[in-house]
Amino acid sequence: MQILVTGGTGFIGSHAVVELLQAGHDVTIIDNLSNSKELVVERIEEITGIKPHFIKCDILDAENLDQICAEKHFDAVIHFAGLKAVGESVEKPLEYYHNNVSGTINLCRILEKHNIKNFIFSSSATVYGLSDDVPFTEKHPRSAINPYGQSKLMIEHILEDLYTSDPEWNIVMLRYFNPVGAHSSGLIGEDPAGIPNNLMPYISQVAVGKRPFLNVFGNDYPTPDGTGIRDYIHVVDLAVGHLKALDQIEKHCGLKVYNLGCGKGYSVLEMIKAFEQASGKDIPYKIVARRPGDAAVSYADATLANAELHWKAERGIAEMCRDSWKWQKENPEGFA
Ligand code: WQD
Repeated sequence: MQILVTGGTGFIGSHAVVELLQAGHDVTIIDNLSNSKELVVERIEEITGIKPHFIKCDILDAENLDQICAEKHFDAVIHFAGLKAVGESVEKPLEYYHNNVSGTINLCRILEKHNIKNFIFSSSATVYGLSDDVPFTEKHPRSAINPYGQSKLMIEHILEDLYTSDPEWNIVMLRYFNPVGAHSSGLIGEDPAGIPNNLMPYISQVAVGKRPFLNVFGNDYPTPDGTGIRDYIHVVDLAVGHLKALDQIEKHCGLKVYNLGCGKGYSVLEMIKAFEQASGKDIPYKIVARRPGDAAVSYADATLANAELHWKAERGIAEMCRDSWKWQKENPEGFA
């Protein structure tokens, strides 16, 4: 199939492009490179032996998008492009709503014009809001606790309304839990700009000596060791989930939503221990105050994806840490 991948030089997008190419799909990446590097395209070619088409394009650029869709008919679109830093979204809500929501509306209007109606959306478990009703099923009530999560929730509602207005659309919304790890080659991986917001890249940077210690945001949560519990999922498992979603699209699935998680949780202290074992490095840490907006526990009920997508996360926490460490050790400055 001819697949258009927005945000395809990003962390999750690049791993999905590798799997798509290795499955025989023809891939065109569009990315505005606001949070990634074009070097990723060469690294994808190094891994797969195939160079994906790459066009620098912003999803807000209707003219460029229109021309891209006029020149090639895409069988499906996988939409990763979007801003995703929770803290930044609180500081810059308009930028997040404009880029994520207006950008997606712009993209879908161009696709509709060119009769491209097979769409996979990169959603997030953040749409489950602050809740301790775990494990989260796809039917769990949705809410948003920050502009980033609100933008994902708005897009979900927009796509639901789009499908209601025109059932010719096939739309699969994938709710990611906590993507971590890297391709086993160590050639692509997570490359956060500045100080990492998320746990795994921060731990990786401590291990490689870029940061002196990890701040553990609270150890007074109602959990076995007092630290936050999350459903970490290997980014390659996540990428494979998108191939399975394409299979659903090909069966004219209509509108579907799936959790992509392992279905179990690990605490911050358990992650530190696992990373120390995988890397052989000590991870010094300090217990500090809770981070506002953090839930105590979040993990997926992933049975629907298993039943309907025939997908299940295969890689465990040791592999997540091993692959994160290999990427970080071999690319201490990321793609810089
Ligand atoms: C995990 C745990 C922290 C950093 C976020 C987004 C979510 C998704 C994944 C995009 C928590 C603790 C973290 C640190 C710490 N992103 N922590 N010290 O918050 O579960 O989810 O990223 O879709 O939408 O909300 O992930 O990695 O930030 O935190 O103690 O320096 O690690 O308190 O318990 P989170 P995270």
